[in-house]
Amino acid sequence: MDPDTMTDPADISKHLLAATEAAASLDALEVVRVEALGKQGRVTQLLKTLGGMSPEERLANGPAIHALREAVTAAIAARKAHLEQVALDAQLASEALDMTLPVDAVAPGTIHPVSQVMDEMAEIFADLGFAVATGPEIEDDWHNFSALNIPETHPARAMQDTFYLEPKAKAAGDGQGPSSDGGGFAADADRAKPEPPMVLRTHTSPVQIRTMLAQKPPIRIIAPGRVYRSDWDATHTPMFHQIEGLVIDKGITLGHLKWTLETFLKAFFERDDIVLRLRPSYFPFTEPSAEVDVGWTMVDGRKRLGGSEGWMELLGSGMVHPRVIAACGLDPAEWQGFAFGVGVDRLAMLKYGMDDLRPFFEADVRWLKHHGFSALDVPTLSGGVGASA
Ligand code: DAH
Repeated sequence: MDPDTMTDPADISKHLLAATEAAASLDALEVVRVEALGKQGRVTQLLKTLGGMSPEERLANGPAIHALREAVTAAIAARKAHLEQVALDAQLASEALDMTLPVDAVAPGTIHPVSQVMDEMAEIFADLGFAVATGPEIEDDWHNFSALNIPETHPARAMQDTFYLEPKAKAAGDGQGPSSDGGGFAADADRAKPEPPMVLRTHTSPVQIRTMLAQKPPIRIIAPGRVYRSDWDATHTPMFHQIEGLVIDKGITLGHLKWTLETFLKAFFERDDIVLRLRPSYFPFTEPSAEVDVGWTMVDGRKRLGGSEGWMELLGSGMVHPRVIAACGLDPAEWQGFAFGVGVDRLAMLKYGMDDLRPFFEADVRWLKHHGFSALDVPTLSGGVGASA
């Protein structure tokens, strides 16, 4: 039967329900909806005929026409929900991550040796009860030098090739002395306060100061981070990485320092035969100060850490200078501590056998592929901190 000539609600219903069921897309369904329920739609037209009927005719035909409208409306709504669900399923399927894919197959990136060593150190020191502290890389002169017992005239400032930042531009009209309008004393006093000279921190030691100012002892922290010095050759880059260690407590001695470093280095290099030698040295922020050397043994013509045939310098350390403790508002008669600072890049070179520091920062993917670590090789004490490269 030609649908256009249908007038029987039963025929129209059959036709529209079949068309609804056959609509393969939301667009096609919308065409059916307009054909059925739009202003000129078949069902709408049938409903309009009710107005011209006598009450008896309406009683006879009304229920079928209303039932038709309800049936078609419900069928279109159901079909719409179904098509939307199908579209959503298709979208989800196309955007889905296959969680069963091995990560190695999809993630060719590697963990940089510096990140790896920092993670290894954090893991080892966490086990010894050390928290991780951080501080800013743009540091003021007081935290980087003065509070660490390195006053302006001290020759120690020349030990570190400091990058100084340009002083902030002075506010326009910043005059000397009282202002001429007589009303601006407070503002002038404010402006007269000199901006502290800012530097790129030359070491992680200022984090010692920030930590002692921010929290009460006992303190046990390590502070990993970037440091900057004007230097450039095979073993020096203008930016490199250090980890600072700080312990502040009562009754702390050099013995605690040596035990801590020995325990750390044995775990880090995964060797029980690591031998340390503390050599008297000088740092302004420690007294006494010690340079820590680690012993090596010649094996097959190569120096291997462990034993004590020879020594190589590894890190700086000492007992925190009473003046540093006092600068942080603590009583040096009550609180003592030890500190150390070690180059992360140097530790990475020693442990993983690189002899040039510069490629660390050249972002050459071939170097990273060779020296980097799998993202899944997370250092843990139980699993081992000596991830294989
Ligand atoms: N801050 C020193 C440097 O950069 C390293 C250092 C030496 C840190 C002795 C310390 C320390 O905490 O006690 O060269």
